[in-house]
Amino acid sequence: MTQPKKIMFVFGTRPEAIKMAPVIGEVKKFPDWFESIIVVTGQHRQMLDQVLQLFSIRPDHDLAIMEKNQSIAKIVAKTLLGLETLIAGNKPDILLVQGDTSTAFAAGLVSYYYQVPLGHVEAGLRTFDKWRPFPEEINRKLLTSLSDLHFAPTKTSVSNLLKEAIDPASIFLTGNTVIDALLRIAKREYDLSQLRLNLDPKKKMILVTMHRRESFGGPLEAVCRSIARLAVAFKDEVEIVLPVHQNPNVKEVVKQALGEIKNIKLIGPQEYEPFVHLMKVSRLILSDSGGVQEEGPSLGKPVLVMREKTERPEAVAAGTVKLVGMDEEIIFKTVAKLLKDKKEYQKMSKAVNPYGDGRAAERTVQALAYYFGFKKTKPKEFAAK
Ligand code: UD1
Ligand code: UDP
Repeated sequence: MTQPKKIMFVFGTRPEAIKMAPVIGEVKKFPDWFESIIVVTGQHRQMLDQVLQLFSIRPDHDLAIMEKNQSIAKIVAKTLLGLETLIAGNKPDILLVQGDTSTAFAAGLVSYYYQVPLGHVEAGLRTFDKWRPFPEEINRKLLTSLSDLHFAPTKTSVSNLLKEAIDPASIFLTGNTVIDALLRIAKREYDLSQLRLNLDPKKKMILVTMHRRESFGGPLEAVCRSIARLAVAFKDEVEIVLPVHQNPNVKEVVKQALGEIKNIKLIGPQEYEPFVHLMKVSRLILSDSGGVQEEGPSLGKPVLVMREKTERPEAVAAGTVKLVGMDEEIIFKTVAKLLKDKKEYQKMSKAVNPYGDGRAAERTVQALAYYFGFKKTKPKEFAAK
């Protein structure tokens, strides 16, 4: 019997952990083929640890790199140095990264320096704008150049990779692993009253998240003004719940602008399970998040995306996600219309699943088995319904 292949998983932030957890769980089912080495950079601390606990992931190594208000260069530098020792010591057969964070990019770069094959989960997303989102668009483009295996979530992402002349044999259309995680958690019972938000069941709840670097300063302040206006204009019928990202550039601005408004509930970053259940009971979602744009449509919730451009055009095409930018007036008017116009709301609230069917991790692991010669054929591709 051959030795199991060593897969080194490297991730560092909340969304990477949520999206990598299903792959880690699936790899564990094949101990004859694979051995896992789990490395977290700790680019996020509390927000990462919440996810590790939920999915019972115990890292083998934790680089613990987080600093308050850290620069991108520092994240990259610390990851490069921390990881090179681990790669040299563990000699993995492949390194797996997810998405477009600075942890993922830096890990991809070290894998190249040590000539370790790289697999990229959620490959091929593009806005074609180098500054939006920043620095994610360039991180994922660079990861494409560095990767040997590309696990693309949708047909659009496959086609983006093909346009960049990536070898089709190295691309696997898997669906997005976030839907695996979402379906698993959404079907559990969860009693939201333990959050002590005292939500009024007669009121509509708007769930808001924001954290993008390119919106720090003026745009984030404009978004806050618009949320404040909505809370006042609809004070008898709407409650706004905003789990605030830990980034001081977000936390301080949001607290200052929205902290004193009665029907706005500012809460800390939520663990994934309560957050999923908050999405489920919301009337609509206002967010600049990548993951939330993918999850909302599966739950049949309209998502208004507070960004100028998105790398996830599929749900926009399906009519359940709308780009509203970061303009105070546009955000206010679009939310107000959805609150008042039932027909418009119904159009946006049908459940669609362009991003996955809950089997993306299975396809990813079967693709790895094919790459290492344990399976003779490529896994069947994800087909959106
Ligand atoms: C990072 C990713 C972004 C991803 C986002 C998900 C980069 C450059 N950015 O952005 O792609 O969409 O995560 O949320 O890779 N902090 C804490 N505790 C935490 C997490 C963050 O205190 O658990 C604070 C720290 O002060 C930290 C700051 O937030 O310095 C920023 O964290 P960082 O990972 O640099 O950037 P994000 O804005 O979270
Ligand atoms: N999320 C969470 N708790 C929160 C806010 C978001 O668990 O308080 C989840 C959300 O469901 C999604 C992921 O975190 O799966 C998105 O993370 P984030 O918006 O930080 O990053 P992005 O997806 O934009 O990179």
